Amino acid sequence: MRLLVTGGCGFIGSNFIRYIVRQHPDWTVVNFDALTYAGNPENLVEVSAMPNYHFVRGDITDTAAVRNVFIEGVDAVVHFAAESHVDRSIHDASPFVRTNVLGTQVLLNAARKFGVSKFVQVSTDEVYGTLGETGYFTEATPLAPNSPYSASKASADLLARAYHETYGLPVIVSRCSNNYGPYQFPEKLVPLAILNAYEDKEIPVYGDGKNVRDWLHVEDHCRALDLVLQHGRPGDVYNVGGNNEHQNIEVVRTILSILGKPESLIRFVTDRPGHDRRYAIDASKIRRELGWQPVYNFEDGLRETVNWYISNLDWCHRVRSGEYRSFYELQYGERLGIGQ
Ligand code: NAD
Ligand code: DAU
Repeated sequence: MRLLVTGGCGFIGSNFIRYIVRQHPDWTVVNFDALTYAGNPENLVEVSAMPNYHFVRGDITDTAAVRNVFIEGVDAVVHFAAESHVDRSIHDASPFVRTNVLGTQVLLNAARKFGVSKFVQVSTDEVYGTLGETGYFTEATPLAPNSPYSASKASADLLARAYHETYGLPVIVSRCSNNYGPYQFPEKLVPLAILNAYEDKEIPVYGDGKNVRDWLHVEDHCRALDLVLQHGRPGDVYNVGGNNEHQNIEVVRTILSILGKPESLIRFVTDRPGHDRRYAIDASKIRRELGWQPVYNFEDGLRETVNWYISNLDWCHRVRSGEYRSFYELQYGERLGIGQ
């Protein structure tokens, strides 16, 4: 199996590649990543010298670069590459439409032309919009995205569906809830709260802090994607979630308590515009059909995650200061522009 992973230098992609090379040592993984601000090749330092791992720096909107990767041979695709941060999409939607919509279409087209056995479109529960106090998102819930980020992901999902219906491309869409774990870029709530709390800085909590997310450890997500890739039914959607709903304020309080820091560090700030109130995933289909179930319990997983960040302060410092950009330059001898 020659597996093309896009966006493998980001949070989930790098965890997935580490998982796959361990789990399937006979597979070859080609990681295609543009190295935007969110892409950090240092996340994959443990695998970078392995003979069955190859890194190609490239942009998924670049048709020629994508074609060159497929010419080398690709059996299946797991597509993570995306602009992923909701707040950034509110500030400027353009890179989200470019990468998440156009980039996905370029990849789907190449996959169609060259023929692949599976194309996994890694999507998100945010495409379903928001829930009230009760209920769960199922695979049949209508799409109702509320942020430019989720609208761009929903658009990509619809293109993926159309390529299956029109051209018979064996596409599968996975929709997962909020991930937490090692190597997450510290703009997202969990690593931001851990690092701010550790440094006795205030933690911004949007609105009343009662928005609910369904938290899943990133390794549980990786296990689900491996199952979807190997055994998922082309044309289908699989929801992935941990049945693990918590209000943001509870998550922040737990992090403070693990670190032994005072709740006076919590600072309620102006709410995110269009802030989805509650996400909750019904993952019964993937449990029933593919035998997936999460391994992590949230309390242990969060404690382990806090410990990971505190034990990897050098990584955190290099990411927060921007020094991580020079890792690639040293390893590959090519300069990275600022803010790419
Ligand atoms: P991330 O922001 O940490 O990483 C994104 C990666 O994609 C980076 O390595 C970046 O360099 C790369 N990339 C961005 N634009 C690119 C382009 N034009 N060409 C090539 N590479 C490009 O994201 P993440 O949190 O790891 O999320 C990965 C995927 O999973 C995304 O598609 C996201 O929508 C989805 N997802 C994320 C979560 C979550 O909780 N983080 C949950 C469900 C689904
Ligand atoms: O649900 C899956 C989605 O989860 C993924 O598709 C996205 O790529 C990923 O970024 C994540 O989106 P969220 O917006 O839910 O994650 P974020 O960490 O940005 O925020 C989590 C919650 O915490 C959300 O309700 C907003 C709130 N928040 C966030 C930040 C960064 C705060 O209260 N303060 C903050 O500083």
